[in-house]
Amino acid sequence: MISTAAAAAHPNIAFIKYWGNQDDALRIPANGSISMNLDGLETRTTVQFDTSLEGDRLILNGEPVQGDALARVSATLDRIRQLADLQTSALVRSENSFPTGTGIASSASAFAALTLAGATALDLCLSERELSQLARTGSGSASRSIPGGFVEWQAGTDHESSFATSIAGPEHWDLVDYIVLVSGQHKVVGSTQGHQLAGTSPLQAARVADADRRLELCRKALLERDFPVLAEIVEQDSNLMHSVMMTSRPPLYYWEPGTMEIINAVREWREHGLQVCFTIDAGPNVHVLCPGSDAEAVKRRLTSLANIKSILKCTPGGPAWLLEPEISGV
Ligand code: DP6
Repeated sequence: MISTAAAAAHPNIAFIKYWGNQDDALRIPANGSISMNLDGLETRTTVQFDTSLEGDRLILNGEPVQGDALARVSATLDRIRQLADLQTSALVRSENSFPTGTGIASSASAFAALTLAGATALDLCLSERELSQLARTGSGSASRSIPGGFVEWQAGTDHESSFATSIAGPEHWDLVDYIVLVSGQHKVVGSTQGHQLAGTSPLQAARVADADRRLELCRKALLERDFPVLAEIVEQDSNLMHSVMMTSRPPLYYWEPGTMEIINAVREWREHGLQVCFTIDAGPNVHVLCPGSDAEAVKRRLTSLANIKSILKCTPGGPAWLLEPEISGV
C-alpha cells in the first residue's frame, strides 16, 4: 500500500512571542502568541506512507537526514498514524524555498506542512483546529502556520485547548517584514532547548504575567491597523523575551554587534517619522516591520547599513495548503 500527499506552509514571525512551556512534551506554551505568516518563504513537503518501508525516512533539501531531526518527524507521524489506526512507515521529502543555515527558523513551516501532508495522505479530514493542535506538538510555532494571515495561538492548558486561529486574513494589512540577515559567529542554541531554560530566569514569571496585556494591545493594533501602537508593543515583547533569554541559567545571548546596530537605526528612523519597528527571534537576524507605504524608504536605509549579509522581503501569507504530490520512485 502506498498513499501520498503533499503540502506547503509559510513560516511566521511572532509579534508577541512564545517562549517557555507549561508542558514541554505537548508544547503547551506558557503564554499565548500572535504572528504573521510570511509570504515569500515556504516549506514544501511530500509524505508517502509505504508498507514496503522498514522505518521512516527523511530527505531534507535533497539530503537524507537521521538522528534527532528524523526522530522529531517520526514523533509527529506517530500521532498521525495513531489517529488513522495504522503503523505504516513513511518517506518524507521536504524542501525549503529559503537558504538553510541563514538562521531563518524553518520548524514552523516544516511541521505545518508535514502535518497537513501526513494527515491528508491518510485521509484523516481534520479541521483547521485539529491540524493546528497536531502541528503544535511538532513545533510550537507550527501551530500558527496552519491558519492564514495574522494568527493568534491561544495558550490553553492542555492538548485540546491549545491551538491557533486567524484573527485577520493576509489582505487585512499590507505589512512588510524585511528579514535582515546579520553575520553571526557562534552556533545558536535551538528554541526547543531555549524554551526549557525560560523558567530559570527570574524575569520569566513577570513576562508571562503581563502577556495578556500585550496580546490585547497587539490584537487591537492589528485589527485597527495602528502601526505606532503595534511598533511599541512588538519591540517591548521582543525585548522582554530576550531579557529572559539573557538572564536564564545558562544565559542565551543571541544578539551580534550587527543586531544592535539595526535596533539603533530602526529606533532613530522611527523618531524621524518613518513607520518601522523591529523584532528578533532566537538568533541574530532582525525582522524589520513596516507598512507597505514606508517599505521603499526602509529598504533604502537598510541597504546602507554595515554588518548585514542580505535582506529578504516578506508580506502577509495565507494558510498551509495542499499541493499535487510528485510520486516518488524511492
Ligand atoms: C523565538 O516553535 O521554534 O521564534 O516548539 O521547540 O519547536 P519549538 O520552538 P519554536 O519556538 C519559537 C520561538 C520564537 C518565538 C515565536 O516564534 O513565538
